[in-house]
Amino acid sequence: MGSFINQVKRTHTCNQLTAKNVGEEVVLFGWVDTRRDHGGLIFIDLRDRDGLTQIVFDPDLSKNAHEAAHDVRSEYCIGIKGKVRNRPSGMTNPKLPTGEIEIEALELEVFNKSKTPPFLIDDKIDTNEDVRLKYRYLDLRRPQLQRNLRLRSKVTGIVHDYFNRNGFLEIETPFLTKSTPEGARDYLVPSRVHPGHFYALPQSPQLFKQLLMVSGYERYYQIARCFRDEDLRADRQPEFTQIDVEMSFVNADDVMNMMEGLVVEVWEKVLGIKLKTPFIKMPYQECMDRYGLDAPDTRFGMELKIVNDIFLNTGFQVFKSAATEGLIQAMKVDGGAKFSRSEIDDFTKFVGIYGARGLAYIKILENEWQSPITKFLSETEKAELTKRLDLKVGDIVFFGAGKKKIVYDSMGNLREHVAAKLKMLDDNQYNFLWVTDFPMFDYDDEAKRLVAVHHPFTSCKYEDISLMDSEPLKCRANAYDLVLNGNEIGGGSIRIHDQEMQSKVFDLLKITREEANAKFGFLLDALQFGAPPHGGLAFGLDRLAMLLTQSTSIRDVIAFPKTQKATCPMSEAPSTVDPKQLLELSIAINKIQT
Ligand code: AMO
Ligand code: AMP
Repeated sequence: MGSFINQVKRTHTCNQLTAKNVGEEVVLFGWVDTRRDHGGLIFIDLRDRDGLTQIVFDPDLSKNAHEAAHDVRSEYCIGIKGKVRNRPSGMTNPKLPTGEIEIEALELEVFNKSKTPPFLIDDKIDTNEDVRLKYRYLDLRRPQLQRNLRLRSKVTGIVHDYFNRNGFLEIETPFLTKSTPEGARDYLVPSRVHPGHFYALPQSPQLFKQLLMVSGYERYYQIARCFRDEDLRADRQPEFTQIDVEMSFVNADDVMNMMEGLVVEVWEKVLGIKLKTPFIKMPYQECMDRYGLDAPDTRFGMELKIVNDIFLNTGFQVFKSAATEGLIQAMKVDGGAKFSRSEIDDFTKFVGIYGARGLAYIKILENEWQSPITKFLSETEKAELTKRLDLKVGDIVFFGAGKKKIVYDSMGNLREHVAAKLKMLDDNQYNFLWVTDFPMFDYDDEAKRLVAVHHPFTSCKYEDISLMDSEPLKCRANAYDLVLNGNEIGGGSIRIHDQEMQSKVFDLLKITREEANAKFGFLLDALQFGAPPHGGLAFGLDRLAMLLTQSTSIRDVIAFPKTQKATCPMSEAPSTVDPKQLLELSIAINKIQT
């Protein structure tokens, strides 16, 4: 055993050999993808990370190799030596790059046997994800995951090249640090040396990258791991990776242009697609009014229309009060009058998830407007709706009415839900959108105070500084998100670079001096030592890779992801620890909830 690998060198990968190599003696290493015993002949498809090659074991050519192939099973790791020959006519496989040839095996060595794997190493399996994650090392053998991780690696290669070319320095920042300001819960690490003290794993390198600007590094980037203890979804992991960037002496457009350049290069080099630039920029408010969401999918129309003014004096009470105190948004679906009662009931349930109390609709039929609210509508209201929404026979209009937040949220999500149902989404279309001018602050009803929409180091738009004292909710931030087909793939801002302004923002957020000093004192200090104007952005690398590979979950582009419950079925993390370790850390467990 083991002699083969020392005696011969691999000559090719399993995706390389074609008719041009016929007659050559070759050595291939890999895993047994499939094995077919045809009585006299045994066929093995040998797989490595690059592809498949068919090997033929013929007892007339090599009795030993044929005998060895008898005992080989799926997923054995083997090496073979043999000669390339053309496949017999009619037996070629045009779908495989190596489909013209096969290898007559002369020698076979089993490097390692394999137990029967718990699932097929194949892209078309519907094995439960927990099982796949428990045996992730086998799951990762599947061609799709191999393609995904290869693509991800290509993207990071492009990222390094792009930023190096543009004068950025790659600088690492600490994992064992203090709380950062992104607003999720922290993962804490207890200190042994300082009992009762904890490090926080960074939710992003935000504070450190700003400090690097104060230190004069001017252009920083890092492919940085971030940690956030938040509720998980298909596009969220507790640890994820950002392409993190910070630049000095720039405005928002400079940052967006730099990041746009990277996206263009990635799409061109990875997908061979030339994106149209510049990407569209849309202020947050316009985005909410037209799409109801701050990360809208713009691959299709079906835009929302605000119709408050039509219903100021209407007989339908729900609309009347929303028209004066809240918001009424209408969405027309061309040809939607064919939706059945139960489909409309489903839509009504769907908007209920977002807090909507109902979903009014009107079907525009040949002779009538069919709707639970027709009886309330005046002729003027009907005429105005027809004009404003360009209504035609066969259309349906949905209405959301009530509190602004609920209407935006429910109608924005309904728009995407209906589009998916009507199959209006083209997987091969990539619509990028910069959403700009986010509000600086939001009001937290529970805490009864203002909160930062991005993070508290984000600067206010110059034109709005005067509103900070009088109408802070009207202040727009110098912040921007990049959205792709309804996914937020990145966000950033121009930062506050003077300490006075920073203190003012903390005051508005009701963060006391003591709190601010305890949490971010080092940054506030640094701002007093000639901090340059600066700003930056971070892309979610996992989300980018997910969209580039058209995966439905970011778990499919992460080698060793966590489940929705933040566990790893393979390593069984998180786990309990030896009481001795806890003692060393001066930690006592109060109560374990199971
Ligand atoms: P933000 O919090 O918007 O900004 O994060 C930037 C991008 O990171 C991705 N992302 C995530 N991806 C996977 N799982 C998660 N749990 C997760 N959370 C965020 C998103 C998001 O757009 N420091 C600022 C950036 C800056 O201001 O420069 C920050 O972290 O794609
Ligand atoms: P009702 O008068 O409650 O029977 O409602 C008449 C229609 O208006 C129904 O189709 C309801 O779904 C719809 N509706 C009720 N409340 C709202 C709301 N807040 N926004 C939109 N439609 C609503």
